[in-house]
Amino acid sequence: MFFITTAIDYTNGAPHIGHAYEKVLTDVIARYRRLCGDEVFYLTGVDQHGQKVQQTAEKEGVHPATFAKKKTKLFLNLWKKLGLRYDGWAETTDDRHKACVQAILTDLQERGELYKKAYKGFYSVRQEQFLTDRDRNESGEFGPEWGEVVEIEEENWYFKLSAHAAWLKDYVASNPDFVIPGFRRNELVGALANSAELDLCISRPKERLRWGIEFPFDPDFVTYVWFDALINYISFAGYLAKDDAGLPDFDGTWKTGRPVHVIGKDILVPAHGIYWPSMLHAIGFTDEQLPQILVHGWWNIKGEKMSKSLGNVVDPDELADKFGVDALRYYLVRDITTGKDADFDLDRLVMLYNQELANELGNLCNRALNMNARYCGGAVKTGGETNADDIELRKSLTTVTADYRAAMDSYDIAEGLKAINRHVTACNAYAERNKPWELAKDPANQPRLESVLAHLVESLAHCALLLSPVLPEPAERIAAQLRVDNLMDLQLDDLKWGIIPDGHQTGKPKPVFPKIVIEESE
Ligand code: MSP
Repeated sequence: MFFITTAIDYTNGAPHIGHAYEKVLTDVIARYRRLCGDEVFYLTGVDQHGQKVQQTAEKEGVHPATFAKKKTKLFLNLWKKLGLRYDGWAETTDDRHKACVQAILTDLQERGELYKKAYKGFYSVRQEQFLTDRDRNESGEFGPEWGEVVEIEEENWYFKLSAHAAWLKDYVASNPDFVIPGFRRNELVGALANSAELDLCISRPKERLRWGIEFPFDPDFVTYVWFDALINYISFAGYLAKDDAGLPDFDGTWKTGRPVHVIGKDILVPAHGIYWPSMLHAIGFTDEQLPQILVHGWWNIKGEKMSKSLGNVVDPDELADKFGVDALRYYLVRDITTGKDADFDLDRLVMLYNQELANELGNLCNRALNMNARYCGGAVKTGGETNADDIELRKSLTTVTADYRAAMDSYDIAEGLKAINRHVTACNAYAERNKPWELAKDPANQPRLESVLAHLVESLAHCALLLSPVLPEPAERIAAQLRVDNLMDLQLDDLKWGIIPDGHQTGKPKPVFPKIVIEESE
């Protein structure tokens, strides 16, 4: 079982392009692993508790639950529109999740992992956390990134994070693939080297925050939003679930394989790199049962962070309507290297779609099917006259498929797509060299003509399957035009030369990737 999750998105606002990127990236990885023959469980969802939701709901004069539900719908609708295929949906207000969080709290409390103490200090309302002197800037102040900072004294529950610090350092040092890519892991290693080994405050008094999961043994407190949210990865995998809870029939200890958590770079340190492994360790998970963290970078706008205050937030819903879901899905994984940041650039979205899909792949699809219909009555003939150019084309496909697999196995989707594109370009150049339209002028060339067209049609079928994790619907449309009904049921290991049998009838081409035309006035 390949268990893959995304971060769960805050429901204090609407989904933006960063959220969409993470979910599409994970969808592509999940679909790719299904193509490899793995049984996959893709879990995503929303983080509905916390101060921000409570505050925004108050401003709107509605109950936080009503507000969170309303925002959750925006996410659900967008994920549907973007064609995500996930298997589990996590909402932190779900009773099954609450029960799991409370059971974990009780267990940790009974085993001496929690304690209650009074603390006086500075608190950032925006970041929902206490600050220390280490959070002050060079001039000794708490910078604007912390928003409103207030001094408060209150009692709270603490998790003995420091008791796991030595273990965590050792774990991270001896498990280099805990965080990928490597340069993101280095950020964690650096943070651990400088860490002050403090304990983690995991409660908020109800008089300050009501919108959270109640402490089962101290009902004046609710659970800190991160402690609650991180547990979604196991609660929705069936950890501690009652048999009838309607969750997947997982062994909550993940004996079925190591899960992969896909998250953005901003929530590696401390949440996923420090709190989460320490929590799992305290709960009783062994080193072998810890997840792997795949960290992606951020989409920026003209080098700047996307933010509501800058007014440069890109709305994925609008983009999908304007340019189509295919162009958006393609761009989101084609123009960024997993782990690094990139600039979201609409000109590049249009250019990459028009060039690589509308022109190159679209052209291959159109000419292969058209000429096969016109010159061979739609029947693929595999026994034609082969020459060295055909052998080169087959070599290109073998190389490209291996490159694609290596890239996709290491989550480098952009390189996987570039590999497919290399073969598509090779096919179009092969067509230009062999000129089937010229060969067709003399019946004596028929055996050669048949071979050229068979090579183009066979290549097209392979490319459609390789593209299917990123663009599932267009891949199906190509399969339908090729009239290979079971193409999308094949797995990568089935991709050997000869999936189109001799005499196979292909269908009519219809444009799969209509060109995006931008009006002058826009
Ligand atoms: N609710 C927490 C996560 C809890 S996970 C147990 C959270 N939510 S968030 O809505 O702020 O962010 C959700 C995800 O979107 C994070 O992984 C974050 O890195 C990602 N992104 C937010 N802005 C982004 C970009 N501009 N670009 C790419 N991803 C970004 O953090």
